[in-house]
Formats: sequence, structure tokens, C-alpha cells
Amino acid sequence: MGITINAEKKIFTLETAHSAYQMQVDDRGFLRHLYYGSRVNGSDMSYMHIDYDRSFSANPNCAYPVRGYSLDVIPQEYTGCGLCDFRISSIGVINPDGSFAAEFHYDSFEVRKGKYTIPGQPAVFENGEEAETLVIMLSDPATGLSLELLYGVFPEKDVITRAARIINRTAGTVMITKAGSMSLDFSYGDFDLLSFHGRHAMERVMERTPIVHNVTSIRSRRGQSSHQHNPFVIICEKGANEDYGNCYGFMLVYSGNFRAETEKDQFDSTRIVMGIEPESFRWKLEQGEAFDTPEVILSFSAHGFTELSHQYHRIIRHNICRSKYNFARRPVLLNSWEGSYFSFDDQSLLKMAAGAKELGVELFVLDDGWFGVRNDDNSGLGDWFVNEAKIRCGLPKLVDDINAMGLKFGIWIEPEMVNEDSDLYRAHPDWALNIPGRGPCRGRNQLVLNMSKPEVRDYVFDSISKVLKSANIEYVKWDVNRNVADVYNEQFPVDRQGEIAHRHILGIYDLLERFTGTFPDILFEGCSGGGGRFDAAMMYYYPQIWCSDDTDAIPRIAIQHGTSFGYPVSTIGAHVSASPNHQTGRITPVNTRAVVAMHGTFGYELDPAKLTEEEKKEIRSQILYFKEHYDVIQNGLYYRLTNIGEQYFEAWEQVSEDRSEALLSVVITVTQPNARLIHIKMKGLDPEVDYRMDVRTDIDEKVFTIPDFPGGSQLKEFLQKEGRVYSGAALMNGGITLPWLMGNYLAMQLSFRKV
Ligand code: GLA
Repeated sequence: MGITINAEKKIFTLETAHSAYQMQVDDRGFLRHLYYGSRVNGSDMSYMHIDYDRSFSANPNCAYPVRGYSLDVIPQEYTGCGLCDFRISSIGVINPDGSFAAEFHYDSFEVRKGKYTIPGQPAVFENGEEAETLVIMLSDPATGLSLELLYGVFPEKDVITRAARIINRTAGTVMITKAGSMSLDFSYGDFDLLSFHGRHAMERVMERTPIVHNVTSIRSRRGQSSHQHNPFVIICEKGANEDYGNCYGFMLVYSGNFRAETEKDQFDSTRIVMGIEPESFRWKLEQGEAFDTPEVILSFSAHGFTELSHQYHRIIRHNICRSKYNFARRPVLLNSWEGSYFSFDDQSLLKMAAGAKELGVELFVLDDGWFGVRNDDNSGLGDWFVNEAKIRCGLPKLVDDINAMGLKFGIWIEPEMVNEDSDLYRAHPDWALNIPGRGPCRGRNQLVLNMSKPEVRDYVFDSISKVLKSANIEYVKWDVNRNVADVYNEQFPVDRQGEIAHRHILGIYDLLERFTGTFPDILFEGCSGGGGRFDAAMMYYYPQIWCSDDTDAIPRIAIQHGTSFGYPVSTIGAHVSASPNHQTGRITPVNTRAVVAMHGTFGYELDPAKLTEEEKKEIRSQILYFKEHYDVIQNGLYYRLTNIGEQYFEAWEQVSEDRSEALLSVVITVTQPNARLIHIKMKGLDPEVDYRMDVRTDIDEKVFTIPDFPGGSQLKEFLQKEGRVYSGAALMNGGITLPWLMGNYLAMQLSFRKV
């Protein structure tokens, strides 16, 4: 396992526990991609590739007079551009002479112990000695433009990371117009693409489409990874599903504009290129300068999406999330937003906190509205001092009083934004992104602070740090509530304006690094109008991200289902909110809302004073149940048991790594008459072990009093029968059958414990 080099054949093989990745320098000095898939006993896979004379696929100059050698058909590790590979390129350049061409030939390689890092950017890190780095150096003989391809190999994690460093060793200045982090060619195979699209309050819905003969781009130009698309895609063989088939994941560790492109070419080969979105990107590289791309996490599974997801969940938890809270038990929180929005004062907050404490909540989070003159979303952003008209007792006293109730205290910030109606904007209008001669675009009536300016970052850091130091603040929700437009920085020359969007993101990373480094004891939660910046780069800084502003349990299931393909439960912020739901008006039982929120870092977002005594009782028991099952929920292996919308219910399961415990969640999403019974085959259990099943549900006496409730007596019997024991083999092969439930959006949680 690890990196093997066959010096004679110039073959580089990267092996993980269950995958192999191979490339070779060919006779003309090009770095060919040979293979990525299940392990092949160290075989030389070059035999699979036969060069062939293809009309209308021109030959590179160095191949002359051979006609059977064309970069237009040869699988490559990273392409050049502007010459005779007419498929999508990994890179775009404008050379000192104005030409658009690059052609990379092999120079040398280096194997390094440990995992490479990327200056100023988040990247997968190693724990102990678990990784190796292969660097392959290439250069363009015509210009001297150089390229370092970086490969990080994590054998036990079944992960390979890739990134590229472009170095200007030409005789002049080079403009980089596209900087792919990686590309990969599949010479053979018929594939589908899984991507995760959405919108505000409906993020990361999985979509599966065939890869056909065109170029497909999954991308964001919103200055954020975005609600609309996620920088994670899966390419799988036709027919692959949760449990079967070859599938390949590509996750970009980047929070800004990105693009993942696929192309099926004339001979049915498939190429994927992933990296920074090239539109509006241009980076000027002076002689001797280097540009580092963000990195892509690649993983392969021969056994379908579930295993692939587990591999991503593992690498994110162990090698991306750095917070000390990553593996620690995170507090059950109550967030003030949906319970009070902007209307509160210190007294109402204390009342809300007391109500939260009574329910068993551990952390009270004061959301938007506590600073500047902020009584709605039109003013105040940027003024990071406490609004003493609302918090009359001052923040330290408020926090002390809340702490005295036995609750931790957390606070909301939106450091990257400014309202025009703020002291900050009045003093520094030039700190907001703006293109000279144009009025700015407004989103939620706010502007974006220009994080490519160090003085802006210093102000934000100093002013917010002062607040964080002023009281015992143990949690911060870091929000971003609009997309980035008006990208410009007048401190840079005109030919460097194409760098600003990326420099803005590097500035945000810098700010996050400073905050998380200075306040290591604070639990940071990311947010961007819910899940508009839900990506691996952000998880490097915060271990959890508010997954969506949609708190309606029913659509939330699809959001969390899509999110789970790449990201672990421990990163998914999920809350129980009031009913009727504030986003959709839907009425759901409080039990169902909790079952769905236990698919993430659990909490509440409502006003406890508005709960009935019955609901309070129910919530107290939910919190106890969550705490009791914390380990299996947050640290267990996650299984999707239904494909969204295929049945009248959805189900998922969490299983502890040692398989001693499992939690099965079932929610009825479509109310049907005379429905067939719910039947679910469980996954991931130990077939040799017996499990005792316990049911938690809100189906109570009320349901049984409905006259002639169909199946009522059987249901009652099912729910009341305790101590049922089934073998893991039976639960996985035969499955579990549950009574059909009559009512609106009912849910059940079934816990299985090894006897
Ligand atoms: C965003 C967040 C919400 C809330 C509001 C406050 O929409 O996603 O949870 O914090 O901002 O303005």
C-alpha cells in the first residue's frame, strides 16, 4: 500500500486498502492516466491502452511522424491547453507572447513522508504517520511554465487527495485563466453523475443524470460554494446503487466559485475536471511566482454509495475537522431565531433561556439582532458592539445570568457583511466590494466586505474579538447572508482584478484561522442562510454547519439525505422548530421534528413559552433520548435506507462502529389510505449478534380512540410488546416489518441494542 514506483517503466502506483490509482510517463514524456478502481495486485495497467490513428485528432509536434499518437484520445493526469487535445482542459494560460498554449512534459518526481499542505488554504491533514505525498514535476518545454501535481495518499482511509501548483519559470508574465485542481480520464465505462443541487432552504437535493456526449458543468459563481450546487460530485457506473457498483467521489475543499465539469468524448471516454470556476478568474503570475489550487478529495468504492459516503465521513471527521469539539459531546442548543427573530430584550431572553433550561437544553444561542442598531435586516451589520437599548443589562451580565441557570451561552455573528446603514459603512464605504462607476448590488439589503483587504479583516477580527472576550461566550454561529457580487479591489492593478474573488476567499480563510486559533474553546457553527456554504473547506474551521434554513421536517429529510452523501451527521446542524412551520406552514408532530433533527447536531429553535405542557414533556424526553443515543447518532456509521420519494415513508439508520447499537428512524411522508406495511431491511449490523428492539413513537392513546382505526389493535400490540429480540442476520436479510401508521407525518425511532 502507499506509493510504489516502477522506475524502469516510469509507472507510479498509489494504493489504498481497496483502491489503486496508476499513471505512467510515456515515451514522449506525457503523464498518462492508466487506471483508478479496485486493487489489481500491483499490475501494470498500461496494456489496457492502445494508441490509434484517429482522424481529426491531431498529433502533437513531438510525436511526428507517428500519426497514432494524439492527446485528444490519450488519458491524461492533467492536460495542457490550446493545442491538440480538444476536450475540456485542466488549465488555461496566456503566455508572455500572447499565445494560449501549454503542453506539460514530465521532469521528475519526489516522494515525501506525510501529507503536503497548501499555503493559506484548508486541506486534508494527517493524524500521525498515515499519509505519503507524491509530487510529479512537469513543465512546458516551449515556455518553461511548470506544474507540480500533488498526490496525498491515505491508504487506510481509501482516499487520495490531489492539488496542483503552477509555477512561472517562463521568460515573462503569465496569465492563468483556468486553474483546475485535478482532472481524471476514464477511458472506458458508461457512467452516471450524482450532484447535489438546490436553492435557499432546499439545499443539496441529490440528482442523478447520465453522462452523455456533452460537457456538463456543476458550478457556482456566487462567491460561495452555494445553496444551488455543492462542490461534491460522484461518478458511478450505470446500475450502481447504495450497496453495489463502482463509484468515485470528487470533493473540492473550497468555499468559493467552483466548477466540476464532465465530458463524454467521441470515443465514449469520460473526463472530469474540477477546480476554481474559470469565469471571472484570471491570475497574473510574475516570473518565479506560484499559484496553488485548492485540493480535491478523491475516493473510490466498488460497493456503492453507502461505502463511499462512509469513506468521506471518516476523512472529514478525522482529517478535515480540527475543532476540539469534533469528537466531544456537543451541547443540545436552543437558538433564539425562529422563537423571537429581531424582537427581544434582555428580559425576554432570560425568560426564553429559563424555558430552554426547563426543557433540558444545555446551550442558549442568541441569534441575529443583538448588536449595532439592528431591529430588522436593513441596518447594523458591521457594528460589532452590543445594542444596549435591547440588552440593557449589558452582555456580560446577561451571559452571567444565563450561566447561572446552568446554561452555556452562544452568539450569532455575520463578520463578512456590512449594511450601508451602519457606522462602519459610513466611516469606510470603500471596505465594501464595489466596482467603480457602478452602484453596488444589494442582497438582503447588505453589502459584502472586501476580505481581500487586510485592514478590513483586522477591523472585523478586533471588533468581534472584543465582544467574544467580554463575556463567557462558548459558541459562535458565523453566518453569511448573501452571495458575493461587485468583485473588485482598487488596491490592485486592472490586470489583477481577476484574482480578487479568490483573494476574498483566502481572506476569509485567514480570518477564520485567526478566530479559531485565538478562541480554540469556542464551538463554531458555520451558516450561510442555512446551507449556502456547506463544504469541506469550512469544516476545516467549524465542526458543524447549519444545514438549511428549512426546519420543516418533511423537506428537511431530502436535504439531509442529499447532504449525507458527502458529509457526516456530526457536521449537520439540525433543529426542532415550531409548528405550523415558519417556512412552509406545514403542521407536523413534535416527535417527527425531533426524529428528523436527530439526523444532525441536535437542537431547538422555538419559543419555549409557546409550548403546551404536553409538548414540553415530550421535548424533555426527546432530549434525554438524544443524550442516551448520542454516540450512535453522532459517531455511528450512517445508512440511507430509502431513496427520497420512492415510497410513502423515508428511513435511515445509524449504527455504532462496533455494531453493538443501531438507531432506525422512519417518517411517514405521504399519507395514504390502506397502505401496505412498512418493511425495511436493516444494514450494517453484526449478523451473528442478537439485538433487543425498543420503539419510541408519539403514537399514543389518541390514535387508538379513532373509531375503527385500521390495524389499531395490532399497532397497539406492536408498540406495547417489549423486549423483542432479533438476530442481526434476520434484521438485515429478512428485515423488520412495521405497522402502517394512520395520521399526518408520524414517525418512529427504533433502537437496537446487542443483548
Ligand atoms: C440566516 C440564518 C438564520 C438566522 C438568520 C438571522 O438566514 O440561516 O438561521 O441566523 O440568518 O438573520
